[in-house]
Amino acid sequence: MKNIYPFKSKVCPEQRRQRMQQEPQLVWLTGLSGSGKSTLALRLEHHLFHQGYKVYLLDGDNIRNGLCRDLGFSEQDRKENIRRVAEVSRLLLDAGMVVICAFISPYAEERELARQIVGPDRFTEVYISCPLQVCEQRDTKGLYAKARAGLIANFTGISAPYEVPPHPDLTIRTDKESIDASLDKLITFVEPQLRLQ
Ligand code: PPS
Repeated sequence: MKNIYPFKSKVCPEQRRQRMQQEPQLVWLTGLSGSGKSTLALRLEHHLFHQGYKVYLLDGDNIRNGLCRDLGFSEQDRKENIRRVAEVSRLLLDAGMVVICAFISPYAEERELARQIVGPDRFTEVYISCPLQVCEQRDTKGLYAKARAGLIANFTGISAPYEVPPHPDLTIRTDKESIDASLDKLITFVEPQLRLQ
């Protein structure tokens, strides 16, 4: 960037890791609306917090209420949404936090961008898998009904695409297993990565 001179902190990442007593990691949950991302993300955050981890959750509906309130659901706006969230995540990771992100993030390219922004070593992609028909039956927010009625444009799965992650680090099938079983699987996968090495 022209006329911009970023500088490095005098506190190095290793000092922060020692102070925080954890490995900073970003757990990125992607999946359709209604697939269970927020439910699992909230429970994962709650669990990790009570295990003593310094953890913070960024979730689509909340972020779109503030930082990204100027963005809609066009392809361009979704990409900007994810770019901003990845940049915020990078700052939180640099500060030594464990970060959980729950965003539809429907495009493979934007998820890859997020991975590059935070650094591949600090990024874990979790695909919250659930067939569209099941998400639509759940319709906890009534959004699928509105989308089918033509009241919401660019609705993921109905009138906008969702690109299934080809190589997620972990896949959770919320249509096949209970929330408790899904959470157990998530914790078993994530928690060892957060212990100081
Ligand atoms: S994205 O695609 O990653 O930028 O979306 P995200 O920031 O995760 O926001 C998804 C939530 O926005 C609500 N909502 C919509 N979702 C999809 N498509 C359209 N058109 C739309 N309009 C509003 C909805 O509550 C999503 O929340 P979840 O938790 O996914 O159901």
